[in-house]
Amino acid sequence: MSDAPAPHQPEPVIRVRDLVKRFDGRAVLDGVTLDVFAGETLVIMGGSGCGKSTLLRMMIGSFQPDEGSIEILGQDTTKLDEEGLNAVRKRFGILFQSGALFNSMTLRENVALPIEEHTGLDPHTIDIIVKIKLELVGLREHADKYPAQISGGMKKRAGLARALALDPQILFYDEPSAGLDPVTSAEIDQLIINLSRQLGVTSVVVTHEMDSAFRIADRMAMLDKGRTLLIAPRSEFEHLRDAPTPDDLNAALIRQFLRGDAEGPITARRQSTVYAEDLLEEPAARRAPTPSVRATR
Ligand SMILES: Nc1ncnc2c1ncn2[C@@H]1O[C@H](COP(=O)(O)OP(=O)(O)O)[C@@H](O)[C@H]1O
Ligand SMILES: [Mg+2]
Repeated sequence: MSDAPAPHQPEPVIRVRDLVKRFDGRAVLDGVTLDVFAGETLVIMGGSGCGKSTLLRMMIGSFQPDEGSIEILGQDTTKLDEEGLNAVRKRFGILFQSGALFNSMTLRENVALPIEEHTGLDPHTIDIIVKIKLELVGLREHADKYPAQISGGMKKRAGLARALALDPQILFYDEPSAGLDPVTSAEIDQLIINLSRQLGVTSVVVTHEMDSAFRIADRMAMLDKGRTLLIAPRSEFEHLRDAPTPDDLNAALIRQFLRGDAEGPITARRQSTVYAEDLLEEPAARRAPTPSVRATR
């Protein structure tokens, strides 16, 4: 298992080094190191609560890490002030779990908003750009609808059109297929693939849905216990998934996750943890972290 880039890999556009994030003294991320290369789609996977969204939020500068560094497009975002951070943020787009559209605005207005906020373009030009963005996600004919009038999949598409508004170099997705039926989910995956090919955009996708992960990933990273267990090309993960049970514990753990098996090292670890807590009379509820920082979205 190696996370060394292939010999002709381009320079990383995102460089995460030894990232540590603690909530209430508990390290959710405990030394994460990874690179994202130009034009690739990196899928970050892991069990729920393992810190995927936290990692993404730190990459986009919503959270500051306790230790480590994040370099995006050549800038260490942990050292930037708000103004510097906003300049970098203009160069990437974000699609959150909810789509995060403004319900009081039409799709056209939702997509126009970041362009109006960040450019001095005249309304006619903005209107053309908005049409192009909506066309990219297949929603041009729905420009005058409100979010409440469209389906969940269309809301994701509209959120994506807005994320594309400022021609980002990097797109961040947090669980893009969450809450969608399998067909709509596959359509969103196809859209992610198309955008990556058509626009050459670099994509970082957080998901725990394996079908989706295997469809869209060039490389995959598996998070566990605050660290990356493996970062490798998709083919290596496919091989792990389809191979017989390996002797190596980490490989067995990844395999169970990828296959969604009910039995394996993840289950064994979970059961032994609960048992240990029971013996120590330390209920999980008492140790559950209370949110101390509010996410911006
Ligand atoms: N703002 C916060 N304050 C305190 N704890 C948090 C905060 N955000 C996330 N956590 C905790 O960090 C852990 C990882 O959360 P998250 O990154 O959302 O996981 P994932 O996206 O992998 O499901 C969870 O235990 C969660 O409760
Ligand atoms: Mg999450």
